[in-house]
Amino acid sequence: MEEEHMLRRELESIHGIPLYWCFVENWGQVEAFQARPDDLLISTYPKSGTTWISEIVDMIYNDGDVEKCKRDAIFNRVPFMEMSAPKFVSGTEQLDKMPSPRLVKTHVPVQLLPISFWEKNCKMIYVARNAKDVAVSYYYFYQMAKLHPDPGPWNEFLEKFMTGNVAYGSWYDHVKGWWEKAKDHHILFLYYEDMKEDPKREVQKVIQFLGKDLKEEVVNKILHHTSFQEMKKNPSVNYETMPNWALDHSISPFMRKGISGDWKNHFTVAQNERFNRHYEEQVKGSALRFRMEI
Ligand code: A3P
Repeated sequence: MEEEHMLRRELESIHGIPLYWCFVENWGQVEAFQARPDDLLISTYPKSGTTWISEIVDMIYNDGDVEKCKRDAIFNRVPFMEMSAPKFVSGTEQLDKMPSPRLVKTHVPVQLLPISFWEKNCKMIYVARNAKDVAVSYYYFYQMAKLHPDPGPWNEFLEKFMTGNVAYGSWYDHVKGWWEKAKDHHILFLYYEDMKEDPKREVQKVIQFLGKDLKEEVVNKILHHTSFQEMKKNPSVNYETMPNWALDHSISPFMRKGISGDWKNHFTVAQNERFNRHYEEQVKGSALRFRMEI
């Protein structure tokens, strides 16, 4: 296959953060990226509910109009800023051509965010998800998304996750970095677990943050359309329109389970104890509090 040389390559590094070779190649464009004051940045560590919050925000921007939100795939409605791969238009090119107001997706750790987002004082939404569920979700994503190196067996992957030897580096540093920044910048900090527990409450927070005022029936429509069951069967958000050589849904669907606490089906007792000890050391001193299940 022609694409084979692009896949399953080892991660490279950009400013000390492990990342896909083709993203690293385009990093100059990312650093020079020009944000606009009315951009909304959606930032997450991978597998934390990026697609979910993206669809919620696009629905809010379009006043709950489902058909408008089906106008294109989510990766075109909310371009992935640092994305770059042969045969694909890069995220920065996509965004440059996009009319305002733009929705911008990123997974970069806070210190790698292009400076213009701070200069333009853009609004940002960060979604954080508990580390154990992220590790499990990432393990399945590594298997189906072939831009990643082979994850190896679960035990090995979990070690890599704990040491930050995965794409985008340490989960711990990522959430702590964005959490600290949220203290002095316009960042709405949300938790995946809260969104699962009470989606209406969390969607209302987003609506308020965006300065919108939507009728109750519109809010209910947004909630229905962005439920896991609806998103799983919606080709404009479930990534099934991506080529199979890049994302192989027969290995694991992108819309996999969409629950909190699936880590319990994967962590052994020993892995859990080891993880907990390491976790405590990593988050020591931070006011960040995650729920590992709801
Ligand atoms: P699982 O692999 O645990 O199922 P991202 O979009 O950041 O890559 O995150 C993907 C994760 O979010 C996957 O988790 C996916 O199933 C979950 N997800 C996507 N849409 C969701 C929704 N509407 N409700 C709950 N979880 C959702």
